[in-house]
Formats: sequence, structure tokens, C-alpha cells
Amino acid sequence: MLSLRYSVILFLVPAKCSLLSDILSAFETSTDCTSCHATLLPAVQAAAQQGDAVFISTLTTVCQTLKLADDDVCVGQFQRSGPVLAHSLRALDTTGTTATRFCDAVFGLCQPPPVDPFTVAFPKPTPAKTTKFVSRGRQPFQVVHFSDVHIDRQYTVGSDANCTKPICCRDFADHTGPVTDPAGPFGNAACDAPVDLAQSMLRAIASGNFGDPRIAVFTGDVVAHDEWIVDRSEATKDLVDWNNAMLGGLRIPVYPTLGNHDSAPVNSFPRSTTRTNLTVQWVFDIEQFGWEPWIGGPSAAQQERNSGSYAVVVPGTNLRIISINTQYWYKQNYWLYDTNTSFPDPNGVLAFMVQQLQAAEDRGQRAWLIGHIPPGKADTMHDQSNYYDQIVQSDQTASTADSIVFIGPALTPTSGNPAFKIYDVDPDTFEVMDAKVFITNTSDSRFQVDPTWELYYSARDSYGPLVGPLAPTDSLNASFWHRLTKVFEANDTAFQLYNTRISRGGSVSACSGACKTTTICDIRAARAENNCVCQ
Ligand SMILES: *[C@@H]1O[C@H](CO)[C@@H](O)[C@H](O)[C@H]1NC(C)=O
Ligand SMILES: *[C@@H]1O[C@H](CO)[C@@H](O)[C@H](O)[C@H]1NC(C)=O
Ligand SMILES: *[C@@H]1O[C@H](CO)[C@@H](O)[C@H](O)[C@H]1NC(C)=O
Ligand SMILES: *[C@@H]1O[C@H](CO)[C@@H](O)[C@H](O)[C@H]1NC(C)=O
Ligand SMILES: *[C@@H]1O[C@H](CO)[C@@H](O)[C@H](O)[C@H]1NC(C)=O
Ligand SMILES: *[C@@H]1O[C@H](CO)[C@@H](O)[C@H](O)[C@H]1NC(C)=O
Repeated sequence: MLSLRYSVILFLVPAKCSLLSDILSAFETSTDCTSCHATLLPAVQAAAQQGDAVFISTLTTVCQTLKLADDDVCVGQFQRSGPVLAHSLRALDTTGTTATRFCDAVFGLCQPPPVDPFTVAFPKPTPAKTTKFVSRGRQPFQVVHFSDVHIDRQYTVGSDANCTKPICCRDFADHTGPVTDPAGPFGNAACDAPVDLAQSMLRAIASGNFGDPRIAVFTGDVVAHDEWIVDRSEATKDLVDWNNAMLGGLRIPVYPTLGNHDSAPVNSFPRSTTRTNLTVQWVFDIEQFGWEPWIGGPSAAQQERNSGSYAVVVPGTNLRIISINTQYWYKQNYWLYDTNTSFPDPNGVLAFMVQQLQAAEDRGQRAWLIGHIPPGKADTMHDQSNYYDQIVQSDQTASTADSIVFIGPALTPTSGNPAFKIYDVDPDTFEVMDAKVFITNTSDSRFQVDPTWELYYSARDSYGPLVGPLAPTDSLNASFWHRLTKVFEANDTAFQLYNTRISRGGSVSACSGACKTTTICDIRAARAENNCVCQ
């Protein structure tokens, strides 16, 4: 279960005169993968070799000269992410495979290189006989899923929602002139979520009006998109306050996972083998304490030792939830580019997953994997996505498909109408019988007074009849979703319904032709090599 809204950093750029002009001209002339390797990387690497301070000031000037962002955003962005980029650039072999990955992730100038071959090791062979989970048609229980809350604790009611920064609705020092679009109390599509919007969602979930969830899954991204400002103390406060809000607002266990925004600088999760003083152990320490009330002491300690990943068996069930920190597979985690030597499993996340799935298999348990970034998406490294896929063995036909990724809708209005999802889950098979999305409509006239939450759609009611009649014990399993993608190919009305729902009717982008083909390809891909996304 993963979330849609994660940020792709603008990108970087560099005040030494010759360095500066070299980089500016490299930007102009580098239009493909070959020139990225031959011209652009050597130019930015030369700045990194002069030390962090020169790198930061040079790239800040490049950013400002090319007007890639407001001046203060350029300054803040490179002060924060500059040391990470410079660290990797100093180590990079500009002709190597890692350099190709860097040119893909940072500049969009290369396709990802072919996957570095690696065979995931399993402790035991596939058993001849596996536990069969058979529905007895018992009443489903409910699970609520919410994600990407991106709460902006500096959101200021009455400030301008019309601005030129990554997020608005704050009193920015360089704002001049009258306020043209005053921020209302509950949020705006140009701004991250105010605290009151998050509280409104928690109250809606706890109200009992939308079901009676027994557990909650939170798939990460607590911190706002103020990437050019956020520091460790802001991120710390955000993480702690949100844990307290969930603890106080919901009377059910929450199973959380970390997002790429849940550290500072954004996306920064160094490998445990990297020598740096910028570790993010403080994040894992915060969550050891913050998540303990729900996941218990041993799993909280496991999380602290395993770079944010843990597993827990939901009390009173046969369900093991395995929460993985997907940020070690994330292309915008710039720590991942500091060597041309292959490191297939940074921080042992894949090994942890295998170990926990084996434990589930040995005990006849079902397992759910939860994480932030969907493994088939374009911003997951092809390599780690391939290795992940060796474990879940997804296959792209209706009869063999066996992996489904349920993506949680975001609370932040920047990605559409704020939403959460409730699953009906079979208590014997732990299969998802229905997924219902609830929204609050930011265009509704009452939204700024008292947001109301309502059912947006039920996947079973809406898509079930299109795929074919479902028997009451049939779940929304991988075969179902594969068949739905076939329906989307044949029935454009159905596909357009799906396309509108991506932003919950918030900001719908037209999608037909090549967009439609790529979107359907992307829906089917649990392995990033298959998603049809081309730089
Ligand atoms: C490292 O870079 C060289 C080219 O300089 C390339 O041939 C090699 O495959 C790379 N190794 C890895 C493990 O990426
Ligand atoms: C947003 O602000 C700019 C100037 O800062 C102004 O020109 C523009 O009209 C404003 N847009 C709206 C929708 O008010
Ligand atoms: C890390 O080290 C650098 C240089 O060695 C220093 O400038 C910086 O302040 C240190 N940062 C922290 C968080 O200790
Ligand atoms: C999904 O459910 C249908 C109907 O119950 C079943 O025929 C099919 O084999 C299931 N698919 C998988 C991959 O389990
Ligand atoms: C196509 O999808 C729409 C929207 O769900 C539905 O109303 C319609 O019946 C479908 N058409 C066919 C031929 O199944
Ligand atoms: C939200 O409200 C606006 C204004 O009433 C309406 O046009 C729009 O269809 C609504 N969106 C959804 C998803 O219900």
C-alpha cells in the first residue's frame, strides 16, 4: 500500500566564475545521455571537488541565473541538499553505470541502465504445499488507510495562496503587494494541509460515520513540501506532533511507515556504510518512541535497528504487517550515487523483507507489505524494483497476477481533493473485498467553514460490474485488477473515470492516446522496468 504523492525535487544547479560559466554552458549544450556523461557531470563534479561551500554557492547561482525557482528557494534548496549531492558527485565515476543513473534521476537525460543482475537469496526453497487461505464468507473487518498528510504547521490563514514557491499560504518575507487569494482555514490546492484539515480527517475517521475500522495504516510523508526551509528541528516537531495527533484522535492501532519527506534534508536516507555526519538515526529514534504505543516495544526497537523497517502481527489475527522503508530504493535519495560499485540491498531492506515473509510462511500467516513509494513507479530504481519483484513474483496476466499495490490517497490538497480510504477485509483470507474512498471537496462552498467528508466511490460497486459479476466471496485480488486494466483499454468512459479519480476530481489532467497507454502500462507494473515511462 503505497502513496502517490512524493516530491520530485526541482533539481539542482551551481560561485566561482569559471566553474559557473562551465556549468551554465554545460546545461545549455547537454541534451542527451552522452553529453550528460561527457559535459554536464564533469562540470558539476568540478564544483563539488572544490568543497561543499563552493558547490553550494555555485549551484545556487546557476539556479538563480536560470530562474529555476525564486531566489530564496534556490538558496535554501542547495544549502540543504547541496552537501548530499556534492558527496556523491565527488565519488562518482562520470563514465560509469551509477553516473547514468544520476543523469536519469537528477537531469532526466538518460534512461535507467539495464538492471545490475542480482539474485535475491531465500532461506528455504518454495514449499511444495503452502497454507491455503479460504474465505468462510464471514463479515469483513475494516482497515483505514491514509497517507501524505504533509501538514504545514506554519500555514497562515489570510496569507496569499497565490505565490511562486513550491507551497504557498505562508507569510513569506519576499511577498510584496496585496494578498490576491487569501488562504482559508482548511486549505488550498496551492498549499499543504493546515493542522485543522488533518484534525478534520481524524475526526471523520473516528466518527463511525464511514465504517468502523479496526486498524489504520499510515503510509508516510508527514512533513510539508517546504524543502528549501525544512531542517531537523522542524521535521522532528512535525513527526512528534503527528504521532500525538494520531494517538489522541484515533482509538485504534496505527501501523505507520516512513516517507521520503520524513527526514531533513528531504529524501535524505544515507546508506549505513556511508561515512557521514548527516545520519538520520534521529528519525528512527523519534519513531521508536512515537510508534511504540501501536506496534509494541520489540517492533519499535526493530524499526530503530533496521533503518525504519519493522514487522508486527496484528493482535488477534493471522496477519503480519511488514513495514518497509522504501527510500533506499528511491531515485531522489542522492546518497545512493556515491559509488560505481554495485550495492544491491542498501541497509538490508530486501533481506529484512525476505526474513519476515519467511517467518510468515513458516507460521501460516498472511502478510501485507506497507511502504511509501510504489515499487513499480518511475522514481524507484530499476535495480531494487527488480529484486523486490523477485520476492513478490508479480506476473502480468489475469491468471498469474499475484501482487497488488493499493495506493493511498493523500490528505494534502496539493494532489487533489483530500481523501482517505477504507478497506473491507476478509477475516480469514485478509483479501481486500472492497476499497472505498472518502473525500472532502475543497471547491464546496462549505469547505472553509466545516469540511464535510463523503463517500467518493466504492471500487467494488463501481468497477465490479465492469469486470464481470463478482460472487460475494470473490475479492478484489490481482486477477480482478488485471482484468480491470483490460476493461480500461476497451472502455474509454471507464478509463476516464479512473483518470478523474487519481486526483479525486481535484485537478484532472486530460489523458488519452499515449498518456492512456502509458497509464495503463504503469498500473500493471509492480516492477519499474515495466512501467513504460521514458525520460
Ligand atoms: C562501473 O563503471 C564502469 C565504466 O567506468 C562500467 O563498465 C562498470 O560496469 C560499472 N560497474 C558497476 C558495478 O556499475
Ligand atoms: C497572483 O499574483 C500575481 C502577482 O503576484 C497577479 O499578477 C495575479 O493576477 C494573481 N492571480 C490571481 C488569480 O489572483
Ligand atoms: C558535518 O561536518 C561538516 C564538515 O565536516 C560540518 O561543517 C557540519 O557542521 C557537520 N554537521 C553536523 C550536523 O554535525
Ligand atoms: C482471484 O479471485 C478469483 C475469483 O475468486 C479466482 O478465480 C482467481 O484465481 C483469484 N486470483 C488470484 C491470483 O488469486
Ligand atoms: C463503460 O464504462 C462505463 C463507466 O463505468 C459504464 O457505464 C458502461 O456501461 C461501460 N460500457 C460497457 C460497454 O461496458
Ligand atoms: C466539488 O464541488 C464542485 C462545486 O460544487 C463540483 O463542481 C465538483 O463536481 C465536486 N467534485 C466532486 C469530486 O464531487
